Amino acid sequence: AIERTFSIIKPDAVAKNVIGEIYSRFEKNDLKIVAAKMLHLTKEQAEGFYAEHSERGFFNDLVAFMISGPVIMQVLEGENAVLKHRDIMGATNPKEAAAGTIRADFASSIDENAVHGSDAVETAQREIAYFFSDNEICARTR
Ligand code: CMP
Repeated sequence: AIERTFSIIKPDAVAKNVIGEIYSRFEKNDLKIVAAKMLHLTKEQAEGFYAEHSERGFFNDLVAFMISGPVIMQVLEGENAVLKHRDIMGATNPKEAAAGTIRADFASSIDENAVHGSDAVETAQREIAYFFSDNEICARTR
């Protein structure tokens, strides 16, 4: 089915100047960018976005990293978009990420792992709504 998923290019990958290389991988895999914005997250935005991890030992480091520089966030649309995007990203820990995935190629550690992607369709709906209003998502009819 055609799905939408939520993607973040994290501060490490923005700093490495590989936004375009990551966008190319989305496009080569038939994922269409239907919404996009660059912003420097506030602590409150990052804490809210990652609220499900608030009890984890890595939470404070995760929030500090995510507000350390600007990010680019986008909504990707396509067939089987959630799983396809996860395949393109590779495992959360770049040491375990398959060759040729975004994290294998651009991430340096589990903390600074270049990209985020929704883990399920329901998560994607919540994550998209956290950062985008309906009128910021563009129908791709051509
Ligand atoms: P992300 O997909 O953005 O979701 C939560 C982030 O926490 C994850 O990517 C990792 O960058 C980071 N993280 C740090 N340590 C861990 C861990 N042990 N397990 C899962 N995520 C972790």
